[in-house]
Amino acid sequence: MNKILVTGGTGFIGSHTVVELHNAGYEVVIVDNFANSNPKILDQIESIIGIKPEFVELDLCDEAKVAEFAAKHTDIAGVIHFAAYKAVGESVQQPLKYYRNNFYSLINVINAFNSNLNLVFSSSCTVYGQPDVLPVTEAAPVKKAESPYGNTKQIAEEILQETCAVSPDLKVISLRYFNPVGAHETALIGELPIGVPQNLIPFITQSAIGKRGPITVYGNDYDTKDGSAVRDYIHVVDLAKAHVAAIQRLEQQKAESNYEVFNLGTGRGTTVLEVIGAFEQATGEQLNYTIGARREGDVEKVWGDVTKSATALGWTAELGINEMMSSAWNWEKYLKDNPF
Ligand code: WQD
Repeated sequence: MNKILVTGGTGFIGSHTVVELHNAGYEVVIVDNFANSNPKILDQIESIIGIKPEFVELDLCDEAKVAEFAAKHTDIAGVIHFAAYKAVGESVQQPLKYYRNNFYSLINVINAFNSNLNLVFSSSCTVYGQPDVLPVTEAAPVKKAESPYGNTKQIAEEILQETCAVSPDLKVISLRYFNPVGAHETALIGELPIGVPQNLIPFITQSAIGKRGPITVYGNDYDTKDGSAVRDYIHVVDLAKAHVAAIQRLEQQKAESNYEVFNLGTGRGTTVLEVIGAFEQATGEQLNYTIGARREGDVEKVWGDVTKSATALGWTAELGINEMMSSAWNWEKYLKDNPF
């Protein structure tokens, strides 16, 4: 049973990926420093898969500690690297915190395994900015990032591509996520925003459960079907399964080069107002919302061309907006009865 290191494995996408790796027959070791997650997630993962994965609490910015970890774990068949700060707004206020953390951790992981590594990297559709052509393909030009967070994803992809060019034993797949939402069907793991949620879905579920007031729709004067902005929302479980497919592609050496990029979305665009309607329909809950001003840094509309992921990765998203909304709501209700 091959062992996969999941950095940031107690986070939102990381925890769901740990579950799907187990389901696919992998052994998992998790490294996390709980900078943006809760230790209780380890117990929740155990409740889902029946075993507690090996866990090492570690700050990946500590070069010596990461090297020590790698020296003790020579049986790692691959790494899925989630560990990074990801709050767009916070990155604008604290750019150096983001550049230091997101780059030191990535570079330390590559160096610790002597650039001899199967690495799946957590990237983002943020690198596209506002695409000129929709749906956006992996060949679309990367645009100037709207935030230091988005810039760390762009530069990290460059670091990986340029290192792969001179390190044939470093094999990398960068996965560009669109908008990850929803929760595991058991409602035992899901998105755990710290403080006031910046992202739409956790704000919706917290508003519906009474933790927050009405939702503010950030703008209804965009050039879209109902004036609100469009995104490609993808269920976090579908996203997790794509990471398993990526690791398998690397292990089976099916990659066409040692640096590849894939879009992870549904290929469908949904407006903010449509999401609100879908949530109400899926849950029977009535949402209160107001129309506010556009949010600084938002793009108007983006959704992915996911042809390459379907053909080369052999992966396609299967869950629809209804399951995204109902699973997110079930998780919010679980949290109300079982506060972390
Ligand atoms: C979605 C839509 C908002 C909140 C960001 C990052 C991306 C990834 C996901 C990390 C937008 C609107 C939101 C609200 C609203 N992050 N909205 N009212 O900005 O598309 O993507 O988070 O991996 O990299 O860029 O996601 O959920 O914040 O916003 O109207 O209270 O919902 O304007 O149109 P976003 P989001």
